Formats: sequence, structure tokens, C-alpha cells
Amino acid sequence: MSQATQVNSVQLESVPIEIDYMALDDIIENKFNNDKENLIMILQEIQRNYNFLPHPTLTYLSTKLDVPYSQIYGVATFYSTFSLEPRGRNIVSICLGTACHVRGGERVRNRVETSLGISDGETTEDQRFTLETVRCIGCCSLGPVIKINEDMHGHISSDQVGKILDQYE
Ligand code: FES
Repeated sequence: MSQATQVNSVQLESVPIEIDYMALDDIIENKFNNDKENLIMILQEIQRNYNFLPHPTLTYLSTKLDVPYSQIYGVATFYSTFSLEPRGRNIVSICLGTACHVRGGERVRNRVETSLGISDGETTEDQRFTLETVRCIGCCSLGPVIKINEDMHGHISSDQVGKILDQYE
């Protein structure tokens, strides 16, 4: 593990996470009917609120839905879309699938890593960005592609990276 990574994880762990249980009840009861069949959608909604799945929300969910914690944890760790670690406010997904790779995806990745000072899976110290690489996000004809949150940026060159990142606070 690099020194930068260690610094990041210490800082992230020290970030106090306040759980809003009323908001959590609203998600579980009002939006999803207290129905364990909606577990994945409930987890998605919680992650939208916190950018990750804080441990206390999983234990609370277990009690509210009467589902064993191990089952909830199993779902949360099975899908790569869920994160149990704090993440940045903006998730940068760089596609390195074949189509994007042959069109310069690696150069784009290098420029993003240099610009942000982090590598795959890491979060900037100011928690502005988390970087992840993915294998195909379904719009190969636009390659090379990066996705930031829900925004798709296609046909990008490494020279455009700085300008694109500047759009996100
Ligand atoms: S390979 Fe990048 S979107 Fe398909």
C-alpha cells in the first residue's frame, strides 16, 4: 500500500458519519414499504445519500426488515456498485474495456491519475473524487469514455481531462 493510500484511509476513517435515522425510516417505510423484497433498492437509496453504505445503516436495516445482518452484508458486498468504504463526492469511472482501451483509454486514465494524484480505488484527500476503472459501460462507440457520477463523457482525449474534472465540486 502506498503512503498516499495510507494517508487517505486515515483521513477518511476520521470523518465522522452522522446517520439520520428519520431519513432512513422514510426510505425504508415510506418509499419501500418496509418490504425486504426491496432490499437492493433500499441499499441503493442509502448509498445515494451517503455515497457509501455506513455500517450502522446496515445493522439498522437488519432490525427494521427482520433480515439477518449476514444476508444484508452479503448483498452489499456481492454487487460492485456498493461500497462499504467512504467515497468521494464524485465517482470517476474510467472505462478500460477493449473498445476504449484501443482508442486511448489508458492515456486518459494516466492523465486522470496524475491530475488527481490518486490511483484506481483511491479517494482524494479532500474527498472530492474517487477513482475506479471499469470494463465497458455500454457505450463503446463513444470510446474512450469516462463516467462521472451519472454523466457520460465520450470521445475524450487526455488533454480534455482537466477541463472535465473542473466541472465537479
Ligand atoms: S469498452 Fe468502454 S464503453 Fe465499452
